[in-house]
Amino acid sequence: MTYSICTLSGDGIGPEVIESAKRVIEAVGRKYGHEFIIKDAPIGGFAIDNFGDPLPEETIKAAKSSGAVLLGAVGGYKWDNAPKRPEAALLGIRKELKLYANLRPAKIYPALKNRSVLKNEIVENGIDFVTVRELTGGIYFGERGFRDNKTFGREAYDTECYSELEIERVSRIAYELAQKRNHHITLVDKANVLTSSKLWRKIVTDINEDYPDVIVDMMYVDNAAMQMVLNPSHFDVILTSNMFGDILSDLSAALVGSIGVMPSASLGDTTLGMYEAIHGSAPDIAGLNIADPVGTILSAAMMLRLSFDLSDEAADIEKAVEAAINEGYMTQDLGGIYSTSQVTDKIISLINP
Ligand code: NAD
Ligand code: IPM
Ligand code: MN
Repeated sequence: MTYSICTLSGDGIGPEVIESAKRVIEAVGRKYGHEFIIKDAPIGGFAIDNFGDPLPEETIKAAKSSGAVLLGAVGGYKWDNAPKRPEAALLGIRKELKLYANLRPAKIYPALKNRSVLKNEIVENGIDFVTVRELTGGIYFGERGFRDNKTFGREAYDTECYSELEIERVSRIAYELAQKRNHHITLVDKANVLTSSKLWRKIVTDINEDYPDVIVDMMYVDNAAMQMVLNPSHFDVILTSNMFGDILSDLSAALVGSIGVMPSASLGDTTLGMYEAIHGSAPDIAGLNIADPVGTILSAAMMLRLSFDLSDEAADIEKAVEAAINEGYMTQDLGGIYSTSQVTDKIISLINP
């Protein structure tokens, strides 16, 4: 079979981790006799510098005509004051591809238990949950701007707005995921203050009827942040809004050892998904061949499973990553001594002995 992948390498460590993932995908292709056609398209600061636009029309076309998209990272100090920042491209491509649900699994490998920021006795109870983050709505996309305030002068505003449809479709993804896992959703919101959170509670409760085998509990986001640290084994599927999901998923990275190992899948109504590690462009370590490639490699595994229905191939990658970690092949964020390319070589050798 032939599969087409659009990579968006982007900025900072993006090109380094995409190169690693690409080599891993090609190794899987050799093992199983698949042909992966992998083409990169410009995005982010790189696209600003070369095409004057962080998300060129050609890039949107390339992404839409591929089977799946694998993203590196965007952003960097250089473009922090650009009229259109690199980050706008990321929001733009998510919106263009209608990828409204972002799955961010946080699972600790036994070999990384002592890398967690948590005490051993808490880690021992297990850390294995998925944050389902709404990705194309909320305050990221709400009305915003500047206006005059008669008393205080100019003011800036952003709005959190959620429609019933936006809440329902991402909630159904969370329910379906919970049915494949431990049948437990925690809706994380701020319903003690926000009107939009009240609508989330109503819709999630209403459609629970369609998933009677799933237990739902609801938690305010401030408490949820604390419970993730004190009692992470409580969580199976966390369902939450765009901004809360962004924040809580970085927190979950500290629980599992490093942000470098956390993958994600952004999904919509078709098999065309976008896959990306949850970390950013890490400008502080870019170009040094020390970035952890595991988050992007595991994102590639999610891509094979969810967009191409290649479960065995995905499992091979996941097993190879864990085996490499078990053998101590880790980058410095995990306390290891190996480079990005050495860790990648090791993973490839475990896939294709
Ligand atoms: P960041 O995730 O890039 O980095 C935070 C810290 O984690 C840094 O110390 C970095 O060195 C470390 N880190 C991140 N990924 C790592 C990896 N794979 N291996 C080892 N260490 C890693 O977050 P930031 O510093 O807040 O943001 C930097 C830039 O990235 C900003 O421009 C931001 O907007 C952008 N960003 C992009 C994405 C994305 O493209 N998906 C996500 C988050 C942030
Ligand atoms: C992420 C990132 C992005 C987000 C930024 C870079 C726009 O932090 O994917 O987690 O907030 O969605
Ligand atoms: Mn983030």
